[in-house]
Amino acid sequence: MNNPLIPLLLVTGLVLAGCSDGNNNNKKAAATCEGAEVQPERLFLQQLGSNSVIVKWRGNRDGGAEASSLCFGTDMAALPAESKTSATVTATGHSEVLLSGLEPGTTYYYSVGGAGTADAGHSFRTAPAAGELPEDGNTRIWIVGDSGVGGTDDPEAGYVRDGFETFVKNHGDEPADLFLMLGDNAYNQGTDLEHQKAIFDVYTTLLATTPLWPTIGNHEMGSLGISTTTSPDDYTIIGDGSQGGPDPAPDSPMPYLNIFTLPTDGEIGGLPSGTEQYYSFDYANVHIVSLDSQLSIRDPDSRAAMLQWLKDDLSANSLDWTVVIFHHPPYTKGSHDSDSELGGIDQPIFAIREEFTPVFEQYGVDLAYSGHSHIYERSYYINGHTGLSDTFDPATMAELNDSGQPASGQGDEAYTQIARDGADDKVVYTVAGNGGKVTFTTSGYPHPANFFSKLEIGSVVIDAGADRLEASFVDMNGSVLDSFVMTR
Ligand SMILES: [Fe+2]
Ligand SMILES: [Fe+2]
Repeated sequence: MNNPLIPLLLVTGLVLAGCSDGNNNNKKAAATCEGAEVQPERLFLQQLGSNSVIVKWRGNRDGGAEASSLCFGTDMAALPAESKTSATVTATGHSEVLLSGLEPGTTYYYSVGGAGTADAGHSFRTAPAAGELPEDGNTRIWIVGDSGVGGTDDPEAGYVRDGFETFVKNHGDEPADLFLMLGDNAYNQGTDLEHQKAIFDVYTTLLATTPLWPTIGNHEMGSLGISTTTSPDDYTIIGDGSQGGPDPAPDSPMPYLNIFTLPTDGEIGGLPSGTEQYYSFDYANVHIVSLDSQLSIRDPDSRAAMLQWLKDDLSANSLDWTVVIFHHPPYTKGSHDSDSELGGIDQPIFAIREEFTPVFEQYGVDLAYSGHSHIYERSYYINGHTGLSDTFDPATMAELNDSGQPASGQGDEAYTQIARDGADDKVVYTVAGNGGKVTFTTSGYPHPANFFSKLEIGSVVIDAGADRLEASFVDMNGSVLDSFVMTR
């Protein structure tokens, strides 16, 4: 059902002659690459790990020929000739190169087209060695949900991006190590063209340096977001196709699966999922799981398989922090109501809440992020809430403060990974479907399991150190409107 893994050219054990000691005096006059730099229409990084990364691109912004190779190295002024790597071209015209044999925690520069020097903005830093902290002691994760409004048609996703950049400037100039997208990444039908407008034209600078890890929303399946089918082969669009159509055979008709190159075999840590639709990976001290709450979850057999894989994956994980992302939120009173199945379109909300939240809680997940509702909503530190909102009982389901009220996660009410009952059995659930627009609330707002709810565009930043994690809701001005701390 998925694309077969595209064979990638492997570059292993590359020796970067003349630039390993960083001492210019000793630098040999090594031959450098001789190609011409190309600025692709889309350029992004996938599956960045300690020793490897995939660089993927398509098109040429200047209208010339597409680049067919890439050079890379640790000295941006002299990319060595032996680093030149040919790209594999996919059926949808994407070029991709897997660079492996890289050093952990190291900055590399690259030139698309194989020039001997790299643009300052074309670089990546490999992940630290497995389980180790980044050099600065902190893993920074940027998360946007439902951001796919399209930069030109609607500027709000750009405002959210600018707010994050302001936050970074004001918080140590530390760039994001990871970029997560919570689904509905490209309205209205998840076509290739809509991905261009809503992702590659909006986050252009970030995507050249920071690996993107997405999840599937309802709009990734076309059909104006109302599809309830269970296979990517059922991808279809409604309307005139002016924003693009299904991808051509032999690739999947679902553009999401063709654009992104996601791990199926535990390439970057985690257990093999056998599908690009859901996966997990490790980065430094954080384990991240992306679930498929749109397709796999609607079919009983596929749902059971994903649930079993999730249990096995979480059981095998021993990193400091565990974050799960998926599109359909278990606790929301935003533009979707977690008390309403909405004719089957929102059935995954119920499946997530009833079948998946108990697994998150039992298997040590710390934070869960979803979108779908175009709002920001953040829960208390909770467990056992598998029913409708009127069954939420803070006395038994939430971590309580010294006064017996649900703890806020702020100040002296910071959460501890091991909850007061002595088990790592609670999770903070956040809806961050406010990455490109906010719309409205529904009956019963705010959801009683949520500590903080606000109709305001923005995004989430997670800062995960060894013993302390802080998650912040950042608005378009870079201000923090909500945050909580978890210690371990
Ligand atoms: Fe959405
Ligand atoms: Fe959605």
